[in-house]
Amino acid sequence: MIRRLAARDVGLWKEIRRAALEEAPLAFGRTLAAFHDQSDDDHRARLATSHTYGAFHGDSITGSASWRALGPSGTVEDHRAGLYSFFVRRERHGQGDADALLARVVRDASAAGILQIELDVVTTNARAVGFYRRAGFEQVGLTPRALRRDDGFADEYRMILRLDA
Ligand SMILES: CC(C)(COP(=O)(O)OP(=O)(O)OC[C@H]1O[C@@H](n2cnc3c(N)ncnc32)[C@H](O)[C@@H]1OP(=O)(O)O)[C@@H](O)C(=O)NCCC(=O)NCCS
Repeated sequence: MIRRLAARDVGLWKEIRRAALEEAPLAFGRTLAAFHDQSDDDHRARLATSHTYGAFHGDSITGSASWRALGPSGTVEDHRAGLYSFFVRRERHGQGDADALLARVVRDASAAGILQIELDVVTTNARAVGFYRRAGFEQVGLTPRALRRDDGFADEYRMILRLDA
């Protein structure tokens, strides 16, 4: 089951975000340390201003996805949205949770007038790249040294899913 998270769901959001950054620290542009630096009010503000979803099995949160428009309504960028915090717990991989999360993002973003969903993914994250390709995302660019970590740089692909194709 997929449902949108509201500001009152800050506990669930922190739980799944912590799991993501612990399980897949190399997949995201944020570190666990930066996550710990954020207050509950910071997290609530994010939930209030973005479209963030949880995947649930019973009472357990097993995945997350978040999108936001890249330009305010009425601007020349208001057809674009970014996809962030896309994550499914390892024990749920390969079972359709990621498809369900993306389908909900596509449905809600389309209803809001979004025509393309954009993301950045570390080039060595083969499973995520494989998932996005299968879902119809097209690789449109590569940012060398997109992330700087203690053990070196990581490159990222920019990928785009056209919703009006
Ligand atoms: C990315 C993520 C949400 C995808 O969810 P998932 O349940 O693992 O995805 P699926 O199993 O449905 O799809 C993965 C696809 O990649 C393919 N794949 C798996 N490992 C692969 C590899 N090493 N190389 C290429 N493709 C691979 C799978 O075969 C599958 O495609 P198929 O169903 O056509 O066989 C999940 O793996 C995850 O949370 N990863 C850690 C966090 C992360 O990387 N987030 C993305 C940040 S941009």
